Amino acid sequence: MPDYEWYQVDAPNIAGLIQTEKTFSTQAKVNGRRLCLIRHQGKLYAMGDKCPHAGGPLHQGKINEKNEVVCPWHRFPFSLETGQSDSGGYFVETYEVKCENRAIWVKMSKKRFLGLF
Ligand code: FES
Repeated sequence: MPDYEWYQVDAPNIAGLIQTEKTFSTQAKVNGRRLCLIRHQGKLYAMGDKCPHAGGPLHQGKINEKNEVVCPWHRFPFSLETGQSDSGGYFVETYEVKCENRAIWVKMSKKRFLGLF
């Protein structure tokens, strides 16, 4: 069973995720991975930023009425909760995320950090 740890998110515009009540998204590198971080309707979400279809930047996508981020390149939607897409059977990995002590934290596998798989 993989070992998990909370990693602090370091991004220049992190205040937008902590303070705003509006929908806000940004990209951040966490534990060696490029993530898309989204605040939407008061809730935080974290998922891989690279669209599995052709590599589009999900942090630049819009959020639709079904609580999905829509890739800006070919419009495939991905659930903010599960990372699943109705289009093409694609999915992106999602992560637990929290706001604590005026910082954003993402729970990820320690093994990924060590580059073991
Ligand atoms: S790259 Fe995202 S839908 Fe094509």
